[in-house]
Amino acid sequence: TIFPAIMCGGSGTRLWPLSRSLFPKQFIALVNETSMLQDTVARLPQGCQLPVYICNEAHRFTVAEQIQTVNARGSILLEPQGKNTAPAVALAAFNALEKNEEAILLVLAADHVIQDVPAFIKAVNTAEKAAANDKLVTFGIVPNKPETGYGYIKHSSFENSGLASVEQFVEKPDLATAQAYLDSKQYLWNSGMFMFKAKRYLDELKQYRPDIFNAVEAAMNDCQKDLDFIRPNKAAFEQCPDESIDYAVMEKTTDAVVVPLDAGWSDVGSYSALWEVSEQDSQGNVCKGDVLTESTSNSYLHSEGKLIATVGVDNLVVIDTPDAVMVANKSKVQDVKAIVNQLKAQK
Ligand code: GDD
Ligand code: MG
Repeated sequence: TIFPAIMCGGSGTRLWPLSRSLFPKQFIALVNETSMLQDTVARLPQGCQLPVYICNEAHRFTVAEQIQTVNARGSILLEPQGKNTAPAVALAAFNALEKNEEAILLVLAADHVIQDVPAFIKAVNTAEKAAANDKLVTFGIVPNKPETGYGYIKHSSFENSGLASVEQFVEKPDLATAQAYLDSKQYLWNSGMFMFKAKRYLDELKQYRPDIFNAVEAAMNDCQKDLDFIRPNKAAFEQCPDESIDYAVMEKTTDAVVVPLDAGWSDVGSYSALWEVSEQDSQGNVCKGDVLTESTSNSYLHSEGKLIATVGVDNLVVIDTPDAVMVANKSKVQDVKAIVNQLKAQK
């Protein structure tokens, strides 16, 4: 049986000022009427176990309330401190193993948009068979630009089963390397969703990163449960190194496979990505709230109070929130992160 593990501990800094540390992007209704976390729950395959949500302690009530609002259930694993995804997935793996030795984890990010849910479910079904066979399954997206924020998967040819083995996994290559991978047409992007037996993941982690394995094991051996909350031991978890699953396991394992995913996937990683997945008017503008435009095109305009009026501009992002206004060139929105860093430095 499938044990969904939904990672909701990211900070979404590139979507500042909509996304804030106390209320990051996965909890906001950015694309639909519901939040991306709620959408993630809604698209879970039928017949799977109740999901576990892995999040920062600071977000526990937000997560609890958001899942209640959509009548979803499940337990909430609380990290005293974010240690990135390798430990987060390990927490979920230990938790699932307690219930079922053969548990298959479906690791999902709480901040993805997937437009074609049936195509996603089909890919999960294909992946489940490979995971049951002890493989570590990734979901691959056909790349269309040399994005440096993604993992790249070099794969063998696809078999009738719909799978290919992974020959190489490279997390976040530099621009020249990403361009070469794109040109070679031999690579897919890693979508950031995974499927494997909980036991298999922990075995790999133990082999490649025993330091992470040991810290998480100690934290889960001494965890407290109250209501739906599971609290790993704080002191033990704080000893855990900070690392993503991509570097800790996926780059190193020799047993990964990839299932292609063509489902209108986006990780809404920036305002340009948000603009792409949002409904645009005939001028290519996305207008949220009180907005007036005159000879304006290809822009993302979002007001939470004041009237935004734009004249004679193209490719612009304007975000108005109660305490911050941000204006950016839509082709430079990766650098919004730099503003957040400046803000942090001021504190
Ligand atoms: N619980 C928890 N704790 N969740 C976390 C933590 C943490 O410390 N850090 C990140 N997450 C969650 C985020 O909320 C997100 O849903 C998911 O884990 C992935 O983390 P990101 O920080 O967004 O990773 P990334 O975008 O840099 O890279 C990953 O995703 C790409 C696709 O979007 C990698 O898997 C790449 O290889 C992949 O291409
Ligand atoms: Mg991401």
